[in-house]
Amino acid sequence: MRWRAMEAGDLDGVVAVARIAFPDHPEGRACFAERLALAPDSCFVLDGAHGVAGYLIAYPWPQGAIPPLDTLLGALPGSRASWYLHDLALLPEARGGGNARAGLALLFAQVDAPIALVSVNESASFWQAQGFVPQESPELRAKLASYGTDARYMVRPAG
Ligand SMILES: CC(C)(COP(=O)(O)OP(=O)(O)OC[C@H]1O[C@@H](n2cnc3c(N)ncnc32)[C@H](O)[C@@H]1OP(=O)(O)O)[C@@H](O)C(=O)NCCC(=O)NCCS
Repeated sequence: MRWRAMEAGDLDGVVAVARIAFPDHPEGRACFAERLALAPDSCFVLDGAHGVAGYLIAYPWPQGAIPPLDTLLGALPGSRASWYLHDLALLPEARGGGNARAGLALLFAQVDAPIALVSVNESASFWQAQGFVPQESPELRAKLASYGTDARYMVRPAG
């Protein structure tokens, strides 16, 4: 399996992976299409034997701000001083072989700025091993509530 830049023709496959990986937080196809249109250089797919086996979406976003779920962004901020990793998801059969780490390596090679994310699915220890550190604040706690009880806001410092 191999990571490559996401293309518009991948979107059905991306939506299918998202439905499996995030059943409690569905997002419309239009949201994925918009992220790809706004940030094509930081959207990737994992090519599997039968199509898209995983995807990664990231884009510039202010630190401490969590983009609303299943919502069009309209535009990205002009500053690329901090980024948001919106999703990293693999089909179950593509997990456990280093594929997530390889996808992240592509992003880390490209982005020399802090990267934030919301960890869900009890994945906080996975992210911690990739250099992300949990951030606590009452304001973030309120915003995280819609993501589920295990949701954590985490930031990986630049470099
Ligand atoms: C989380 C996810 C992306 C990990 O993918 P993966 O391909 O299994 O990860 P890798 O094989 O690259 O694992 C890299 C390391 O993280 C560890 N790891 C993998 N999943 C983990 C998890 N859920 N919790 C803790 N550690 C984990 C691996 O054991 C490996 O450790 P090593 O470096 O000591 O060998 C994948 O399980 C997934 O798509 N889950 C569903 C979607 C999801 O929850 N995404 C993250 C939500 S924010």
